[in-house]
Amino acid sequence: MKIDGWTVEKALHVGLTMEQGAMKLYTDAQKMVKNPGSKQLLKELAGDETKHAEYFEKALKDPKKVMDSSKASDLTRVVQDLGVSDPLKGEPLSKDATYQDILIFAAKSEKTANEFYMALAKQYKGHPLARMWEEFAKMEAGHKLKLEKEYDEVVLADN
Ligand SMILES: [Fe+2]
Ligand SMILES: [Fe+2]
Repeated sequence: MKIDGWTVEKALHVGLTMEQGAMKLYTDAQKMVKNPGSKQLLKELAGDETKHAEYFEKALKDPKKVMDSSKASDLTRVVQDLGVSDPLKGEPLSKDATYQDILIFAAKSEKTANEFYMALAKQYKGHPLARMWEEFAKMEAGHKLKLEKEYDEVVLADN
C-alpha cells in the first residue's frame, strides 16, 4: 500500500508507533545479549528511539512548540503519494528470533524508517517540517550503520 492522502498528524502517529516499536525491540534485545559492547549499543539505540517517540508525542500534543515555525494547522496538511509503503505493514519479528535475526530485522526496520522520513522530507521541501523529517531520516540511517557494524563484529566473528 502506497502512502497517499495521509495528513501530517497521521504521519506523526505512524512515526510514533514505529519509534515505540523500535524502542521495545532494542529494550527487549538487551536482555538476550551477554556481550557488554552489544548491551551498550542496544541501550543507546533504545535511548535514541525513546527520544524520537517523545518528540513525536510532544509534536502531536503541541505542534507549535516543537515544530519550530510550523503552525498547528500544518498537521492537517495532506501528504501526496510518498512512493513508499506504510512502514507499519511489515512482517513482525518471530518470537524465537536469535540475536542475528534481531539485527537483520532491526536494520531492515531502520531502512524502512529512513525511507519513510526521507519521503516526507522530500515532499515538505522548503517547508519548516522538512528539517524535522530530514533529521529523523539521518538518525535512522545512522542506526542502520551501527547495526551493520555490530552484525559484522559480533555475528560474523562468532560463526
Ligand atoms: Fe527512531
Ligand atoms: Fe532508529
